[in-house]
Amino acid sequence: MSRSRIVILGSAAGGGSPQWNCRCTVCSLYWAGDPRVIERTQSSIAVTGDGENWLLLNCSPDLRAQVLRSPFLRPVTGLRHSPISAVVLTNGDIDHTVGLLSMRELQAFEIYATSRILKSLAENSMFSALSSSLVTRVPVRLGKEVSLPGDLAFELFEVPGKVPLYEERHKSASRVEATVGVRLSVRGRTAHYIPGCAAVPSELKRRLMGSDVLLFDGTLWSDEELLIEGVGTKTGERMGHISISGVAGSLAELSDLDIKRKIYTHINNTNPVLIDGSPERNHVEMKGWKISYDGMEIMF
Ligand code: MLT
Ligand code: MN
Ligand code: ZN
Repeated sequence: MSRSRIVILGSAAGGGSPQWNCRCTVCSLYWAGDPRVIERTQSSIAVTGDGENWLLLNCSPDLRAQVLRSPFLRPVTGLRHSPISAVVLTNGDIDHTVGLLSMRELQAFEIYATSRILKSLAENSMFSALSSSLVTRVPVRLGKEVSLPGDLAFELFEVPGKVPLYEERHKSASRVEATVGVRLSVRGRTAHYIPGCAAVPSELKRRLMGSDVLLFDGTLWSDEELLIEGVGTKTGERMGHISISGVAGSLAELSDLDIKRKIYTHINNTNPVLIDGSPERNHVEMKGWKISYDGMEIMF
């Protein structure tokens, strides 16, 4: 088995799938016991270059359940230990940060993010439960490669996005560097992780060309999905998520790029690709994409 691998800890968008209070089409199938819809926790992946040191990309409210289910993330030595040595944040959203509060138990690790994203954490005093003498918040400049134990390195790059939902009422909240993608590299191979992305400009396409693995924002099938399902009033565009389908959707924009493995993640519970065998799932798979699921392992 290759020592370098990515494990999808949580493949769903905010709320998970099913969402605790939701009766949209997909969630209703789950509640009715339909085996075509499986449970998914909220958006996060773990990556390692050596099988021992693990980096989390985003830290979801479901972190504890994800650790319990992942033997490689359990403590193995001393009284306090975790194979998780650091966390990278791609934005300040609730589904990507709240798990940090479950990592407060006298454990040293680093949090890497842009200064902009760290500012969102700093403005939420609850995160001060993470002792600054043990948990180091490291601002990362875009385009600057950061090396980690076990032959793993990462770099952050900006993608079109939005400010966290809880900052929308602050008129001055800046979008600049509020949403980033992550380029991971291990011994010459590269993977890109982009769980939130509002559009695919040509610059982003150029960046992704030749990548071994792409994990991309699969939040919505269509821009008006939440309205059609009657569960919300926002379009995908308004939420900062490009939809999968449509002439300017991610399937049209990215399917023909030279990328070895293409996988959708951060999938909202309203998205019909979550129904095994649905026309939408079949279409995405026919185009060469996979739909991620919790526990999915990707060697790279
Ligand atoms: C998103 O991905 O748009 C957010 O996670 C939404 C939210 O904070 O609920
Ligand atoms: Mn989200
Ligand atoms: Zn739902």
